[in-house]
Amino acid sequence: MKIEVFPCSDFSLNIAEIAPDKSISHRSVMFSMLASGTSEITNFLRAEDTLNSLEIVRKLGAKITDDGVTIKISSDGIKESSDVLDCGNSGTGMRLFCGLLSSAEGHFILNGDEYLRRRPMKRVTAPLINIGAKLDGRNNGDLAPLSIRGASLKSFDYESKIASAQVKSAMILAALRADGVCTYTEPELSRDHTERMLQGMGATIKVDGLKTTISPMKELLSPLIIRVPADPSSAFFFAVAAAITPNSHVLLEGVTLNETRIEAFKALERMGANIIYEVTQNKYEPIGNISVKYAPLKAITVEYNISWLIDELPALSIAFACAEGVSSVKNAQELRVKESDRIATVVSGLSACGILVTEYEDGYSVKGGVLSSATIDSHGDHRIAMSFMIAGLNCGMNVEDVACVYTSFPNFFELLQKITRVEFK
Ligand code: S3P
Repeated sequence: MKIEVFPCSDFSLNIAEIAPDKSISHRSVMFSMLASGTSEITNFLRAEDTLNSLEIVRKLGAKITDDGVTIKISSDGIKESSDVLDCGNSGTGMRLFCGLLSSAEGHFILNGDEYLRRRPMKRVTAPLINIGAKLDGRNNGDLAPLSIRGASLKSFDYESKIASAQVKSAMILAALRADGVCTYTEPELSRDHTERMLQGMGATIKVDGLKTTISPMKELLSPLIIRVPADPSSAFFFAVAAAITPNSHVLLEGVTLNETRIEAFKALERMGANIIYEVTQNKYEPIGNISVKYAPLKAITVEYNISWLIDELPALSIAFACAEGVSSVKNAQELRVKESDRIATVVSGLSACGILVTEYEDGYSVKGGVLSSATIDSHGDHRIAMSFMIAGLNCGMNVEDVACVYTSFPNFFELLQKITRVEFK
C-alpha cells in the first residue's frame, strides 16, 4: 500500500481520537492474567500489535468478553496453548511475554513477523536464563521463534546496561514469581507503566531512583480497571504537523502526560514551538491535553533521557529538517534495533528529501533546510511511514509500504485527511 500526501495549508484541529497508548494496552491484557477476578479495559488500542497480545492472552486460557467498548478478562492461571503465540511486529509483546511465561507451567512458542524475527531477544532471554528460565531461540537464544518451558525462578539483583522498559518489565514479571525479593537497576529511568499498573493492582514494588525492588506475589493481584489514555508517541506526529506548518494549532486530548513519555514534546518546546500541558485526571498516571502551536523552529541537541523520546525521534527529525541550524541526536544507538534501523531509515529518508544529514553510530545530525518531495520506503516501520507522511504536509511526499501504520495507529490516515488531501495508490 502506497500513499501520496499533498502539502497542506494552515490548520487548527482538536483531536480526541488519537490512538490509545500501545505500551499500556499490551500491559493491560497481560497483567489481567495475574489477577483474581475480572479486569476491565476500555479504550484498548485495537491495532495489530496489541490485538496480537489480546489473542495470545486468549490462547493462554483467559476468558475474554468484548462488547466493542470494554474488554473484560478473567483468568484462572496461564494454560499451555496448542498453538504458536504470534507477536506479529511487536518487540514489547515478545519481550514481556518472555517474562510472563518463563515461570508458567508448560511449553510455549513465541513467534513474530519477518522484522521481529530479526530483532535481538538476548537482552531478555539472557537475564531470564540466568535466574533459571528455560528459554531458547535461534542464534543462541537471541532470535525468534523462541521456545519457553516454564520453570522455577531464583531471586535476583540485576543491573541492566540498557535503559529499556521492555527488559525491565520482563524482569519485573519474572520477579513476581521468583523465590525471593528481587532488585532491578537501570542506567536511566525508562518508561514506568509496568511499575505503576502493577502497584495499582496491589503488587509490592518499590521504586527508588533507578532501582526497583519487587517482592514475589503472595496471592493473585486485584483486577485492573483501566481506561487507556491516548498514546503520546502517536499524538506526537500531529504535534510535529502543527509545529512545522505556519499559523497552525493542534489540541491533543486525553494523552498520558507521564514524564517518561512526553520528552519529545519538551524537545519541540525547546526548539521554539508553543506547547501547553493541562492535566485533567490522574489514574495510574497523569492524563490530559497538549496544545501545540506553530512558531519558527531552531536547532537543538538531544542527548539525555533518550529512552523518554526514543519512539518519537523519527518524527522529531522532520521538525529538525524544518528548523534553523544543525540539530543532533546522540546516545541513541537503541534506534538501530527498533522496527527498522531507525538511524539508517531516518538518514536515508531525509537525504532523499534534499536535507543534509550526517550519520553516526549512535545518532545523526540534521541541517535544517528546505524539504523536497521524494519517494520514501518505510522499510515496514510504522513510525518511519508516519514521520514522512507528516513531512509531506510541508512539501508533498510519496510513501511506500504504509500498511505498517495499522500496527499502532489505525485511524492515522483518517486524521491526516482532516489536514490535507492524500491519494492511496
Ligand atoms: C516500550 C518500550 C520501548 C519502546 C517501545 C515500547 C514498552 O522499547 O521503544 O516502543 O512498551 O515497554 P525499549 O524498552 O526496548 O526501549
